[in-house]
Amino acid sequence: MKILVTGGAGFIASHIVDAFIAKGYEVCVVDNLSTGHRDFVNKNAVFYEADIRDRKAIEKIFQREKPDIIDHHAAQISVRNSVDDPINDAQVNLLGLLNLLETGRKTGIKKVIFASSGGVVYGEAKKVPTPESYKPLQPLSPYGVSKLASEYYLHFYHKTYGIPFVALRYSNVYGPRQNPHGEAGVVAIFSLKLLYGQVPVINGDGRQTRDYVYVADVVKANVLAAKKSVVGAFNIGTGKETDVVKIYEKIRKSTDSQIVAKHGPAKDGEQKRSCLDASMADEKLGWEPQVDLSKGLDLTVAYFKNLRQ
Ligand SMILES: NC(=O)c1ccc[n+]([C@@H]2O[C@H](COP(=O)([O-])OP(=O)(O)OC[C@H]3O[C@@H](n4cnc5c(N)ncnc54)[C@H](O)[C@@H]3O)[C@@H](O)[C@H]2O)c1
Repeated sequence: MKILVTGGAGFIASHIVDAFIAKGYEVCVVDNLSTGHRDFVNKNAVFYEADIRDRKAIEKIFQREKPDIIDHHAAQISVRNSVDDPINDAQVNLLGLLNLLETGRKTGIKKVIFASSGGVVYGEAKKVPTPESYKPLQPLSPYGVSKLASEYYLHFYHKTYGIPFVALRYSNVYGPRQNPHGEAGVVAIFSLKLLYGQVPVINGDGRQTRDYVYVADVVKANVLAAKKSVVGAFNIGTGKETDVVKIYEKIRKSTDSQIVAKHGPAKDGEQKRSCLDASMADEKLGWEPQVDLSKGLDLTVAYFKNLRQ
């Protein structure tokens, strides 16, 4: 089995590449290194520095590698940037996806795994924890719209060309190698500030909640998605809501810091609550989160501490 992982030099997918290689899959990585790092890419993976929007480059890679599975993680990941430049967001997140799907269907791909986002596709849901069946889906940013539209494209390719897909709607993913721009960016930001003796700023009252899932649990969801013959979108989260003040307190404890955070102005349009009901992933994929927040934060802080030394 050969898996082509896009975004495999980035935070989440570099861990996924490590896991697939450990399980004996052949893995190739496509990444333009816009936010990813060459050092994160497993030495046993074939690496292509290429942009998912580049039709010729992608065609050449697919002709050569003929992957069985695409595990698609390359993306414009910033909610804020998507608001500032929705055209760029759509170019990377939608046209990039279509380029992979159009090329892949011609070279015989058998499955697509897609990094969707349960943190953004539901918008400000009235039911929390939110299940996949929740309606209406009302993303609050172009990034959320592109994630949801991507799922619809995957549905189209499944119905029209028989290519199965698993869209994993992650909650807020944190862990070693994460960068400050993603959906759980606050964990990296607070960890780095406290480790460098700087004062973190909490936006508004800090009572906005998120569902923080540790990266190793997300990796397991990808491994299961590659193995199981299921199709559709699945929430990947813990079902536990944590607010920003609590995250700050936990990271302060992990870093053994005495620094007191400041409160800044609330960010316009920021989603207030987000938390996912992942019982369908349990039922259909056999997935359950295993790393609790305190343990996951300790592991993440240890990573950042090590980087500093
Ligand atoms: N971090 C989270 O909390 C979270 C939550 C939900 C969904 N996701 C999704 O998971 C995926 C991975 O996110 P991450 O947090 O690891 O971010 P990341 O920025 O670390 O990884 C993205 C990778 O994609 C690469 N990339 C970006 N644009 C590219 C392009 N045009 N061509 C080729 N490569 C390109 C980057 O260089 C980077 O290595 C993304 O699709 C993101 O939307 C992340």
